[in-house]
Amino acid sequence: MLIVKRISGRMKGISILDSIKNRRSIHNFKKEEVQNNVLLDIFHYASYAPTHYMKEPWQIKVFQEKGKQFFIKEIISSYERIGMLRTDKEPKTIKMKESMKQFLLEIPHHAVIFFEVDEDPIRYEEDYAAVCAFIQNVQLAAWEHGVGVLWTITPYMHDQTFVERIGINSDVMKIAAVLQMGYPLKVPRNKGRTAIEEKLEIINK
Ligand SMILES: Cc1cc2nc3c(=O)[nH]c(=O)nc-3n(C[C@H](O)[C@H](O)[C@H](O)COP(=O)(O)O)c2cc1C
Repeated sequence: MLIVKRISGRMKGISILDSIKNRRSIHNFKKEEVQNNVLLDIFHYASYAPTHYMKEPWQIKVFQEKGKQFFIKEIISSYERIGMLRTDKEPKTIKMKESMKQFLLEIPHHAVIFFEVDEDPIRYEEDYAAVCAFIQNVQLAAWEHGVGVLWTITPYMHDQTFVERIGINSDVMKIAAVLQMGYPLKVPRNKGRTAIEEKLEIINK
């Protein structure tokens, strides 16, 4: 109530607050692809994330269209390497890999977000924090465009061979997340959040 009164008449403010609250993680996408100019706009707005020393550490590789075939083949190879998928030719194994491949192919865009690892642990933390701010901005800017995102952290991100094979130098770079992106087929219900009063302490003296 207080917020509505304070920002009444400022439609942009309302829109940002709505997006913060109503954005949901999207698990099911329509087949339709997001146009490159829309993706560019989303990443452009996301790049206004705060960044210490103006390092802008975020880098992005988007795998889409035919580029997904290669990316998904590498994900499956990685899961075999790290023991999450079997390597035998049993029908059950083949079926499992095929359904995983189909599931991943149906996601229109896979955006790999990575950054250079600073050897100084404090700088590293600052860079990772800035990249996370960038990612949340991606989620919010995408929401404004009607585009859904799932922020994922997956085991293949930590497999150096996978990282190298997708063209990222694993000696100096780290993948922070892989964002699955596309127009939502279904928006999950809002699970709500714990009342912030339970986590907030204001110290006046
Ligand atoms: C760092 C991070 C990693 C996440 N990784 C995954 C993931 O691997 N798989 C997944 O389904 N959701 C993942 N999520 C999304 C959360 O599950 C989701 O934000 C949470 O359920 C709340 O739902 P909401 O985003 O719709 O409010 C991740 C979120 C964050 C911040």
